[in-house]
Amino acid sequence: MRARLVAGNWKMHGSLHDNARLLDALKAGLERSDKLTYAVCVPFPYLGQVSAALAGGAIAWGAQDISEHDAGAYTGEVSGAMLKDFGCRFVIVGHSERRGLYAEDDGRVAAKFLAARRVGLTPILCMGETLEQRDRGETQNVVGRQLDAVLAAAGIAALAGAVLAYEPVWAIGTGRNATPQQVQDVHAFIRARLGASDRGLAGNIAILYGGSVKPGNAPELMAMPDVDGGLVGGASLVAKDFIAICAAARR
Ligand code: 13P
Repeated sequence: MRARLVAGNWKMHGSLHDNARLLDALKAGLERSDKLTYAVCVPFPYLGQVSAALAGGAIAWGAQDISEHDAGAYTGEVSGAMLKDFGCRFVIVGHSERRGLYAEDDGRVAAKFLAARRVGLTPILCMGETLEQRDRGETQNVVGRQLDAVLAAAGIAALAGAVLAYEPVWAIGTGRNATPQQVQDVHAFIRARLGASDRGLAGNIAILYGGSVKPGNAPELMAMPDVDGGLVGGASLVAKDFIAICAAARR
């Protein structure tokens, strides 16, 4: 059976006070499961708080970005080794907000993916099209290009054990849902594209869906055959919602 994961992406939300309450509620509501991994990907300044709160428990943690460099004169950047120092297991790479708002191109995303692998972090590689691209029928071109950039830079073997996330930009934070079938179609496309290079790897890799995942739509989305969990934004800040989404994914 493929590994399944639900990861919360807190984005630029939180405070020491609010995080403590949220983490307490998540710890109380999520029991260790051999069917599903849970994680929260938090802002850098809170990694110390989160690692102290979650160490030894059922919930893993990670960051939302990583420098492509290992160390050096890169003001404001955070390296993979630093994330490892704080016990991170995961790091989100190539989120559409990084691609769109901070001009991260496919090459930089691939370099970040490699930086994560060098230090033993599990990258969660995000891919997804804008509404204009979907309307023009370019979804597969865009997602295929984003995937190929990492394959070209890292090689298929580097994808083993990584996590992929399909996040259509038009469904992020908008409340506008991709239908389960739309999601399934893109996930199947991604798996087939990887399968052309390595069938075994493609069959085993976890592909998460992200974009307005809520307790109400999670059961249908998580039931699709090529959906192996979720990358959850807004609903990951509400303990009972995140716990309900995890329950839907724990099948
Ligand atoms: P929302 O769940 O808020 O739509 O965010 C999705 C996302 O971007 C997760 O990385």
